[in-house]
Amino acid sequence: MAKVFVFDHPLIQHKLTFIRDKNTGTKEFRELVDEVATLMMFEITRDLSLEEVEVETPVSTAKAKVIAGKKLGIVPILRAGIGMVDGALNLIPTAKVGHVGLYRDPETLQPVEYYVKLPSDVKEREFIVVDPMLATGGSAVAAIDSLKTRGAKNIKFMCLIAAPEGVEAVQKAHPDVDIYIAGLDEKLNEHGYIVPGLGDAGDRLFGTK
Ligand code: PRP
Ligand code: URA
Repeated sequence: MAKVFVFDHPLIQHKLTFIRDKNTGTKEFRELVDEVATLMMFEITRDLSLEEVEVETPVSTAKAKVIAGKKLGIVPILRAGIGMVDGALNLIPTAKVGHVGLYRDPETLQPVEYYVKLPSDVKEREFIVVDPMLATGGSAVAAIDSLKTRGAKNIKFMCLIAAPEGVEAVQKAHPDVDIYIAGLDEKLNEHGYIVPGLGDAGDRLFGTK
């Protein structure tokens, strides 16, 4: 079964509070999402393996460590996932970025796929799928399906806020995909919005309504 990690780092929790606040404007909201994505990436990359190298310091030769050449890919679910990409790339600037375009039909709440573009070496890459919201889980499940159909084998999912229903849906459909969350909320409302959540992540990031 996939593992679920809820990050309780004080900085993540503090910033998440202002992301939730309805009085936070678009500019600040975007900056905070970016910062939290960076902090979450720092935690997620804890298990990257290291290899030993030699480096010449001004004083002598040192045995030191570098990341052991793992190929990473960041995959935002369009459109709100875009808000987490730069923050993730702050720590892993050489990662490739794929895109999966999905929107949630407002009536049925079912995800509708409209765009997919992934790095060509999908099979060798470890992917982190990013989206601020995991609500019913339909979008995350479909995005991960889409990656797997194209050959991806190693996938993690990272979101700001999740509902228990979404976590359960991803765990059921993709038991191999670990889930990383900043805030695990109470429930979904009758419109499929996370309660208390933060509202519509895409609209708040891009100033649309
Ligand atoms: C939001 C959010 C997720 C999805 C979550 O996207 O960014 O992708 O809803 O809901 P689910 O877990 O019930 O599928 P939305 O469909 O509003 O599209 P947008 O990012 O283009 O605004
Ligand atoms: N998508 C959002 O942007 N917010 C929610 O609460 C649920 C789905």
